[in-house]
Amino acid sequence: TSGNNQNESRDNFVVVANRLPVDRYTDADGQPAWRTSPGGLVTALTPVMERLGGAWIGWGGADSEDIAPFVHNGTHIVPVALSAEEIESYYEGFSNDTLWPLYHDVIAPPTYHREWWDSYVKVNRRFAEAAAETAANGATVWVHDYQLQLVPGMLRELRPDLTIGFFNHIPFPAYGLYSQLPWRTQIVEGLLGADVIGFQRVADASNFTRSVRRLVGYETKGTSVYVPLESDSAPGQTGGYRRGGPTRHVLAKHFPISIDSASFEELARTPEVQARAAEIRADLGGSGKILFGVDRLDYTKGIRHRLKAYGELLADGRINPEDVTLIQVASPSRERVETYRQLRDEIELTVGRINGDYGQIGHAAVHYLHHGYPREEMVALYLAADVMLVTALRDGMNLVAKEYVATRFDLDGVLVLSEFAGASDDLTQALLINPHDIEGLKASIMTAINMPKPERAKRMRSMRKKVRENDVERWSTAFLTELERSAAARLEEAQG
Ligand code: G6P
Repeated sequence: TSGNNQNESRDNFVVVANRLPVDRYTDADGQPAWRTSPGGLVTALTPVMERLGGAWIGWGGADSEDIAPFVHNGTHIVPVALSAEEIESYYEGFSNDTLWPLYHDVIAPPTYHREWWDSYVKVNRRFAEAAAETAANGATVWVHDYQLQLVPGMLRELRPDLTIGFFNHIPFPAYGLYSQLPWRTQIVEGLLGADVIGFQRVADASNFTRSVRRLVGYETKGTSVYVPLESDSAPGQTGGYRRGGPTRHVLAKHFPISIDSASFEELARTPEVQARAAEIRADLGGSGKILFGVDRLDYTKGIRHRLKAYGELLADGRINPEDVTLIQVASPSRERVETYRQLRDEIELTVGRINGDYGQIGHAAVHYLHHGYPREEMVALYLAADVMLVTALRDGMNLVAKEYVATRFDLDGVLVLSEFAGASDDLTQALLINPHDIEGLKASIMTAINMPKPERAKRMRSMRKKVRENDVERWSTAFLTELERSAAARLEEAQG
């Protein structure tokens, strides 16, 4: 698979991600068809795809077995099939019941199963082989997220001619936690197959380089890692290589991801969306304050902490359900993983209790919606919301916070934002909170509800400037520029 014949039909830019950029649906004639997923990553990479000629390798979702590659809006779509057993062991198991909780600071206990690891290796190899077959000679391959951390290393072995980038969308944990992982060394070595490894925050990148020093003993300096090209002694033995020998440079640096800000503002300015926002407000009685939360139903998002704070404010009599309503959208996610099932039960029990205790006819205290919504509806909800609650216990970035800010061209609304979300690095004019501190969270919710209009506008204006400047285009450009730089440096070195 490493030959470079048929080069013409191969792609110069290849994205590898667990999910494809298209969703399957049934069209008007009852036929299965594909449409572009609403995600920001797709928007960010489309221009690059169009410029360079691109392919996207990914899994098409649970009921999409054995689909041949096809072209969608000019992008070469290469589906990778997963068997039912692999969905359980690679996706639900190792990705979402081992790595996900471990990388989010063990908010839920990670499960370590050797069978799941074996499946992770096998599926990562399948993605790497698909990339090796798809990429043209000297192409750039950009691998995404925790599900595919072994792909850079495997791909470098198959295709040393490629330039390989990796971006980790979720946090990278401190060494004290990361070191729990029985396969910690293999994963570090897998990632080091890349030329550039991107992280959300400075701390994620430095957690990674510390793990490199501790586990494989390679030299690191700031964002640089020097991977020895030849080793003199047994692999896995710390420092078991000749210092001062030839090395390959790997950049491990933060590149905070963002959103397509202009498209949110554009949507918010449409009469349809504004009418819908007014309708939502009217449906809730018109005059009161609306608190709003929207998350994938995930234990990292701090939905329980948010409900606890809101319930206590009602119990203390500091707010009244006629004046203050909470809308919580929780979109279904990873529903076959036990921790997610338990979380759903707990949240629904809590919502039921709050409504039972404090609701009145015509005034539910919490409007809980277990659905996903199209972007138009989300933007209408953002416009309707007086206070946006982002209370994540740990979150790589949290794009909801940025979407809310991008939407509020009216310079109104207050963002309550967890300092444990990457977004808090940039959005310092939000009301920053520690979601574990329930008293502090309650106080910030009250501050948000009572904040005078000029202060709301001042904070929103400053946050909007950040979100407008640092949009997702800037993110992908910054990453790809580093990748190009590293490709040029390698070429120069090879030419002597
Ligand atoms: C997070 C991860 C993504 C993942 C998404 C949805 O944002 O970083 O890699 O695709 O959640 O989760 P799912 O398991 O449905 O793909």
